[in-house]
Amino acid sequence: MGSEKKLWLVVIILLVEIKVQHCVGNPIVPCLFIFGDSLSDCGNNNKLPTLARANFLPYGIDFPGGPTGRFTNGKTAIDFITEDLGFSHLMPPYANTSGFDVVEGVNYASGAGGIRKETGTHAGPDMNLELQINNHKVIISQIAAKLGGPDKAQQHLNKCLYYINIGSNDYINNYFLRNTYSTSRTYTPEQYAEALVQQYSQQIRVLHQTGARKFSINGLGLVGCIPQAITLRGKIGSSTCVEEDNKAVLIFDDKLRILVDQLNKDLTDSKFVFVDQAMIKSENYPMLKGMKGMTNRCCKVNEKTGQCNPLEVPCNNRDLHIFWDSFHPTEAVHKLMAKSAFYSSITKITFPMDISSLVKM
Ligand SMILES: *[C@@H]1O[C@H](CO)[C@@H](O)[C@H](O)[C@H]1NC(C)=O
Repeated sequence: MGSEKKLWLVVIILLVEIKVQHCVGNPIVPCLFIFGDSLSDCGNNNKLPTLARANFLPYGIDFPGGPTGRFTNGKTAIDFITEDLGFSHLMPPYANTSGFDVVEGVNYASGAGGIRKETGTHAGPDMNLELQINNHKVIISQIAAKLGGPDKAQQHLNKCLYYINIGSNDYINNYFLRNTYSTSRTYTPEQYAEALVQQYSQQIRVLHQTGARKFSINGLGLVGCIPQAITLRGKIGSSTCVEEDNKAVLIFDDKLRILVDQLNKDLTDSKFVFVDQAMIKSENYPMLKGMKGMTNRCCKVNEKTGQCNPLEVPCNNRDLHIFWDSFHPTEAVHKLMAKSAFYSSITKITFPMDISSLVKM
């Protein structure tokens, strides 16, 4: 081998090593805290007496090690983002952080949980956003003890990414369940979205007071297109989205985006990104067009709860399905959500910047 070739080989090996080092175990941000619902839950509901649990097969069939409490067949969007950030492990659930260093992050997300306290509680208890933030305060005191005081903890907390993906249940498991919850009689869709965003805004400001500075705030997906909505409220025999549901949620998304703009102006020590999850639809993603969507669910569901029946064998071609059960996307769609939020070059769904830019600031 000529010496020039050898040199190139050395350069290439060095580059590969630098890349690997950067990718695993040397994350772009030192810590990640996750707030949300079943789109992000990784086991917080496992011990709760609620129907909103997923710690049994076929949930987790494609997750290394099997079921964890994630409400899909494999990893969730925030799991993929955690890997893209370079963490060597996924964040542990608040309900069981044993074996993990909480200084690096915790996942507080809880299936069926929402911005409002009563949301989802017909299924049993869950952890709403306020409770999740209270749990974060418990973790902060552990971090302060570990790092040597509140000031050290603050310096650390300022550098973390705070990922919040919540609000779907305030529609699916509250406003749209007219026989169970009264909100649809109290509020017009416009008033409801306003009340939700106001409450959300206060909670984000509380999180800011605890030291959070880098936020990914996720808008809601098109909840009128989930199989549960089409089954319960769609036109009989039709498999098209429930436009009325989508309209209500898009009012929320518009207001949330305006809130993110406002927060970027008000809190100049912080940066907020809005992730427009409603943009994730087949018009924008040709690959979604080739997938089985809408009323097609990969697992056999209990029609009452909309969740997979325990231990039943799901479909084989899981990467070709949009929906895993009646509410939740497959890992394939979670991955698409993650990649689109992380790199705006895929399809612009983030404002004013993507998550990969946010974490570098
Ligand atoms: C907590 O998590 C660890 C692994 O992360 C696991 O070994 C242990 O069984 C869990 N404990 C409970 C009570 O679920």
